[in-house]
Amino acid sequence: MTLRYIGSKTRLVDGLARFIGQYSGRGRFVDAFCGMGSVAAQAAQLGWPVLLNDHLSYAAIMSSARLTARNQASFAELGGYTSAIDRLNGLDGRRGFIWSEYSPASLAHSRAGVERRYFTEANAAHIDSCRSQIFDWSKSGLLNPSEERVLLADLLSAANRVANIAGTYGCFLSRWTSQSQGTLALRPRDLIEEGMPVDISVGDVINVDIAPDDTVYLDPPYTKRQYASYYHLLETIVHGDAPVVEGVAGLRPWQHLASDFCYKRKALGALVDLIQGIGARRILLSYSNEGHVDLAQLTDRLVDVGDVKVEPLASIGRYRPNQKASDNASEVSEYLVVIEPKAVASMTKKSATARK
Ligand SMILES: C[S@@+](CC[C@H](N)C(=O)[O-])C[C@H]1O[C@@H](n2cnc3c(N)ncnc32)[C@H](O)[C@@H]1O
Repeated sequence: MTLRYIGSKTRLVDGLARFIGQYSGRGRFVDAFCGMGSVAAQAAQLGWPVLLNDHLSYAAIMSSARLTARNQASFAELGGYTSAIDRLNGLDGRRGFIWSEYSPASLAHSRAGVERRYFTEANAAHIDSCRSQIFDWSKSGLLNPSEERVLLADLLSAANRVANIAGTYGCFLSRWTSQSQGTLALRPRDLIEEGMPVDISVGDVINVDIAPDDTVYLDPPYTKRQYASYYHLLETIVHGDAPVVEGVAGLRPWQHLASDFCYKRKALGALVDLIQGIGARRILLSYSNEGHVDLAQLTDRLVDVGDVKVEPLASIGRYRPNQKASDNASEVSEYLVVIEPKAVASMTKKSATARK
């Protein structure tokens, strides 16, 4: 399967492009909750230099890989990109952490003694060998940081294609799907022709380094689903560590990454505090009527921040597990809240006057 990322804006990027606009030479496009990077990729296509941020490393890695240009990742030390991928695909499996915790080998080898069926033993062992090979290449200077991120993203994509899950890593399926019985295989991606400057940060949105000229895009979680637990296995593959994992699902410790935006009682306050603290000339906030923040309450709380406009983007059908859910479900409406903070507008006007 390919990953169905919760809250992905892939289907909305065309609608968003109108508000992002062609790059005018001012500031960067900051995708502060970048997820899989679909919106950052659209901004880069419109000519924007980009800053990617997410508090989960796998998200920053997946997003940056799609913004990597050929000349940044030539894999010269490994005989080219295809040769690097072939070498990874040709590795023998290694009985490492993914094998011992997330394949049926976990019954005998994990602390919990639970049989976890995220991957077949062969695929899990191959993920382990790829992960350690990428790490070794990187340590010995055979990969630059962009190349390392591309290979890690390719490994994550390959793992997603053979994962025995129903869309997220929140749990594994008890019966093996036909895709999960396939063989793990990395595929080289189409690297982009010409890259825009891309900065990457991994951390809480509150700490993102924003400049007054930037345009900041905010796409926070809007339901109770915590990404750190739903996608825990991607984070473990990227880190290549061996944390103490818990429960039937084998979650790595994630509570320190619990997002305030996922709690109904905290989300509105967290969003308002975040927006009030952003010193940028334009803030674009994705909003869904399926989330737990009320739009009227949000716009009321933002009146003092500056000029606020709510732009309808689209009504989209959401994934439904069965016909009954489909019949009962209402449409999901997506909006873009466009905020032009007053304080920054007057600050940039003043500095423009001073320059004259
Ligand atoms: C709705 S998704 C973004 C989807 C993205 N726009 C896309 O199209 O793929 C929200 C993202 O916010 C991240 N996140 C949640 N809380 C965060 C926080 N406090 N700081 C930074 N990132 C956070 C999650 O890890 C997740 O990747």
